[in-house]
Formats: sequence, structure tokens, C-alpha cells
Amino acid sequence: MAIFTETRVLPVSSYRPSRETLAVAAALLREGWPVAFPTETVYGLGGDALNPVAVRAIFRAKGRPPNNPLIVHIAEPGQLQELARKIPQVTHKLIDWFWPGPLTLVLKRSPKVPSEVIGRLDTVAVRMPAHPVALALIQEAGTPLAAPSANLSGRPSPTTAAHVLRDLNTRIPLILDGGPTSIGVESTVLDVTSSTPVLLRPGGTTVEQLREVVGRVALSPKAAMLTRSPGTRHRHYQPRVEVVLVLPRAELTGVVEQYWSRGLRVGLICSETARLPRRPDVKVHVLPESISGFAKGLFAAIRALEESGVDMIVVQGVEERGLGLAVMDRLRRAASLVVDEHGQAVVTA
Ligand code: TXA
Ligand code: MG
Repeated sequence: MAIFTETRVLPVSSYRPSRETLAVAAALLREGWPVAFPTETVYGLGGDALNPVAVRAIFRAKGRPPNNPLIVHIAEPGQLQELARKIPQVTHKLIDWFWPGPLTLVLKRSPKVPSEVIGRLDTVAVRMPAHPVALALIQEAGTPLAAPSANLSGRPSPTTAAHVLRDLNTRIPLILDGGPTSIGVESTVLDVTSSTPVLLRPGGTTVEQLREVVGRVALSPKAAMLTRSPGTRHRHYQPRVEVVLVLPRAELTGVVEQYWSRGLRVGLICSETARLPRRPDVKVHVLPESISGFAKGLFAAIRALEESGVDMIVVQGVEERGLGLAVMDRLRRAASLVVDEHGQAVVTA
């Protein structure tokens, strides 16, 4: 679906985005075109959230199923008023603590939000990103921006402009390149329409941080099921090669050996401290031991290994706390097999 002869990539300073560059992007947005831009989590594909034509163009560019609603991005908390109604008290507390930042709040929608953004829901998901380029772009466009992650539907979220270009070249007119994103996993999605906030998607703001501020946070039945029972959730990310997730306390070397001995070209993603198999032909992508470093590099590592021509990817998992909850959520969705600490494999595809 090429509709542009080329996709322009304009570098933009993350500290002081140039007015001219922002003006080019904002002009496209006002005409209803989608533009990719950096946020602190992953790159987004933005369009005027109040223009149904612009929102449809986002879905088309990504090949995204229309029933999957979009997050609306705003540049200041005051913009929430025109998007949501019946804003509960807890929202203000969450905004004070976590905005701008990787927390998306699900609220009752205002009638101003086009149904293209939210599908058949009566709610709208809103976040104020903590990235100077994203904030300046929303301001310059003069409208909230609906923005899913800027990948082709089903692919890992992009954490660099090069990832966006790989997926969306000739499908969108412009990418603002602000360098690699700092968090590397998407925002946390929290439903605040019921008396106890419900976690719909773990992400860059941790459950522990949320509980410190608002007390109780419930896991949605879906999220809870996903952590306990990987066999019951739907595939979301579809890396081009099979992914095997090895739980943190399981023995990694044996799993790699098992595939290697079948003649498969194995790619391995693990942290610095892992005991590595001594096989020269296993492509190893080492990530920092800190969970923030691991999260930041994970999607890029998956994409790099895919491109390097491996037959399959083995990933060593992390503990499911803090940012690790979001990391494992994404890995479980990507994996077709999970190996537990007893060496038992659970087929999930
Ligand atoms: O960090 C992020 O959240 C990135 C950056 C670009 O902001 N965006 C992102 O968007 O990850 P996307 O479209 O890839 O994921 C949005 C998630 C989906 O799981 C969607 O189902 C959920 O948010 N969502 C959107 N609107 C919702 C609503 N009204 N109720 C419940 N879930 C909603
Ligand atoms: Mg996405």
C-alpha cells in the first residue's frame, strides 16, 4: 500500500525541537495526514484525534483492525476536559503524580471524540507523554493526537525512527527522528471508570508506583490470566521467527543447545549475567542487567535478530515485578513456547 513516493525522515532535537521542523509536521497533521514522532515509551503514529478522516488514515497506514481503539495524546492536563466526562477524583491524583509520563488513563468519553478513535466503546484512553518533541508537536498541531505505536499492526513497537521506516516506508509522509526512545515499552493503561482502578496493560509506570499513590489497583481478568496462564491469551506481536521464552529461573543453556543441535540458527536475547552457551554460531544479543536497560533494548534486539536471518529466537525472561511485568507481558504475547523452571515447555501459539 504505497501512497507516498518516499517517507521523509527529519531529525529533531529532543531537547529543543526546531520550530521549522515542527511546523512541517503540524501542517501535515492539520491536513489529516499521519506523522510518526518519538515519545518516551515508543514511537507513535499521530493523527488529529478530532478528525475522523485523519484517524482512519492511521488505521490504514498500520493495517490495524478497526476495533482496536487508539490512545489520545495531549500536551497539558487541561485538554482532558474536552475528551472525557465524569472525571473521577482519583484521576487528578494520578495526573499530579504521573503526568507527563507513561500512564494512559481510560475515562468516560466525551461526545467530541469520534467513534473512529474508540470503536464501540463508551470510554477514551488519554495520556500526556513526557517527551519534548511529542508535547511540542501536539501544541503546534493545535489538537490532541490519536497515536498508536508506529509499527505495522502485529509487529514489535518501534523504539527508533529506523524501525518506523522499516515498517511504514511509503505508507506515511513523515517521521520525526528524535533518537532512540528512553523507556522502550509502551505506557501502562489504567481504567479509572470504576471505584478501584483496573490495570488493562502493564507498561512504563509500574503497578507498585500506582499502588503507592492510589492504594488498590486491580488486575483486569485478562491481564491476570496472562501472567498466570500463558496458554490462554491471544497472540499480539508476531515476530517473523518463532520466539521461545525461558522463565528467569529455568536453565537457559540447555534450551539453546536443544535447538542448536537440530541445526537451527538460534538467536539469543539475555542479560549480561546469563551463562552463555559456547557456540560460535549462536547469535547472542546481550541486554543490560538492569530491568530499565533490558526494557529499553528489548524490541530493538528482537528486530535486529530477525533481520540477521536466525531461524528462531530464545529470550531469557525477567522477574515479573516493576517494569518486568510489562516486559514479560510483551514476551508472553510474542512467544509460541514458554519454558518454565522445571524445563517444562508450555505451547502458547
Ligand atoms: O506508550 C504508548 O502507549 C504508545 C505511545 C505511542 O504513546 N502507544 C501505544 O498505542 O502503545 P497502541 O495503540 O499500540 O496501544 C494502545 C492500547 C491498546 O492495547 C488498546 O486496546 C488500548 O490501549 N486502549 C485504547 N483505548 C482504550 C479504551 N478506551 N479502553 C481500553 N483500552 C484502550
Ligand atoms: Mg501497539
